[in-house]
Amino acid sequence: MLAATAVRLDPDDPLAGLRIGEHADPAPREGWATVRLRASSLNHHDIWSLRGVGLPEDRLPMVLGCDGAGVDEDGAEVVVHAVVSDPDYRGDETLDPKRSLLSERYDGTLADLVLVPRRNLVPKPAGLTFEEAACLPTAWLTAYRMLFTQAGVQPGSTVLVQGAGGGVSTALVALGRATGVRMWVTSRDEAKRARALDLGADQAFEAGARLPERVDAVMETVGAATWEHSLKALRQGGTVVVTGATGGHQAVTDLRRVFFLQQRIVGSTMGTRDELERLLRLLAATGVRPVIDSVLPLEEATEGFRRLSGGHVFGKIVLTRPA
Ligand SMILES: NC(=O)c1ccc[n+]([C@@H]2O[C@H](COP(=O)([O-])OP(=O)(O)OC[C@H]3O[C@@H](n4cnc5c(N)ncnc54)[C@H](OP(=O)(O)O)[C@@H]3O)[C@@H](O)[C@H]2O)c1
Repeated sequence: MLAATAVRLDPDDPLAGLRIGEHADPAPREGWATVRLRASSLNHHDIWSLRGVGLPEDRLPMVLGCDGAGVDEDGAEVVVHAVVSDPDYRGDETLDPKRSLLSERYDGTLADLVLVPRRNLVPKPAGLTFEEAACLPTAWLTAYRMLFTQAGVQPGSTVLVQGAGGGVSTALVALGRATGVRMWVTSRDEAKRARALDLGADQAFEAGARLPERVDAVMETVGAATWEHSLKALRQGGTVVVTGATGGHQAVTDLRRVFFLQQRIVGSTMGTRDELERLLRLLAATGVRPVIDSVLPLEEATEGFRRLSGGHVFGKIVLTRPA
């Protein structure tokens, strides 16, 4: 089958270890299902993997990709949940110490075929295209859990999103808007601020700008570059949810502010299969659809990786396969 594979790890030049070419088909396995993928989408996770973050050398070659939608062996249209937990684990899969994401221990979705535990398949709503569905299992699921599970935002809450263009940021704005949350966004880039407003943000600010008032929750995917601003933007008793550190992971925290203002700092990773089902229902009910930056055939995956690592995307990059 055709696949985008990590064949070498390089912290400084991640794309040097990316190969688009033939890879062995997955061998059938008891309790697992083979999905013929119609669309996959890229995440920053794929670039971290090529840098060697969460992917040791001895697991190479590894098919990259967490996100995918396609057709299972019975002809059902499915979305793949990317969190693979231990078969004996019960409860929130994201808290299983043995869990991995597709492409960390098991081959991922940037391929013609992917083998996943059968319980990781979620029916694709008919109203969503394969391209749209393939955007959801990582960035959109992460955004859903950040807003509704971890921060517990309510209609009418005010939420600040650091960064405007990333897959998670665009998902946060669209989901918050659809559920009556007042979404504020920062971005270093004027054009991205304008696009965030088009997407439904209530206000868009320059990175680090003083805000008109403190917010109920902050959604952090940028990290060190925006951390200080995030804590300053948060009201007493507010929650900052952290899921990423694209702009650096070593940040300084003024602990006096944290305890005096009783701020809550909450980490979040991906989401459960239940949350993915609820996210799909939310999209079906509201008509909200993922923001797609570009669609390319899998053969041109390298171009997609270049765009993502260049930081110029707005929304998701989708890779497709013919029916
Ligand atoms: N924990 C999880 O489960 C999980 C799931 C999904 C993603 N993530 C992580 O979340 C992060 C976001 O991923 P993504 O795919 O949505 O998008 P991304 O391509 O990593 O971009 C995120 C945002 O970061 C901003 N940004 C990047 N570098 C910056 C810098 N040096 N200073 C200020 N802002 C900067 C950009 O905003 P502007 O250009 O608009 O300023 C962009 O909107 C990644 O680190 C990813 O690994 C984690």
